[in-house]
Amino acid sequence: MSIRFFLCAGIALLAACGPAKQEQALAARRAEQLRPADARLAALYERSCLNCHARADSGAPLTGQPEAWGLRSARGLPALVQSAKQGLGAMPAMGLCADCSDVDLRDLITFMQSPSP
Ligand code: HEC
Repeated sequence: MSIRFFLCAGIALLAACGPAKQEQALAARRAEQLRPADARLAALYERSCLNCHARADSGAPLTGQPEAWGLRSARGLPALVQSAKQGLGAMPAMGLCADCSDVDLRDLITFMQSPSP
């Protein structure tokens, strides 16, 4: 192993990670701008879901990016509502929206996994 190998490997890694990180940051900035059309739902979203689902480093699928939701969406809305209610991984139960109804969660999730306009 030469120092050249490590140098090249390092540069290759940087080249691969740099744009991906930038892309993530950009995606999060786009997600931050999005709100549900309904004012009451937007208020619920702002004080709970937004705090993770529009942050690149939260590990949460970003709002307005169906690619990020991919396989999750494929499991269907009822399954997603169920995991939001129970919590999943780093997401606390109810996504920190204690007063969200099942319908609110369903509408929030529908909004979050839809492509941004
Ligand atoms: C504290 C951060 C946080 C908050 C607040 C939050 N989420 Fe999440 N959410 C996450 C993370 C992290 C994941 C990915 C969990 C995993 O797959 O391990 C996730 C995943 C999800 C999923 C996918 C679940 C699945 O089965 O794959 C749904 C649906 C969801 N969140 C809905 C919501 C809704 C609706 C709100 C607001 C009411 C919300 N989240 C608030 C962090 C959060």
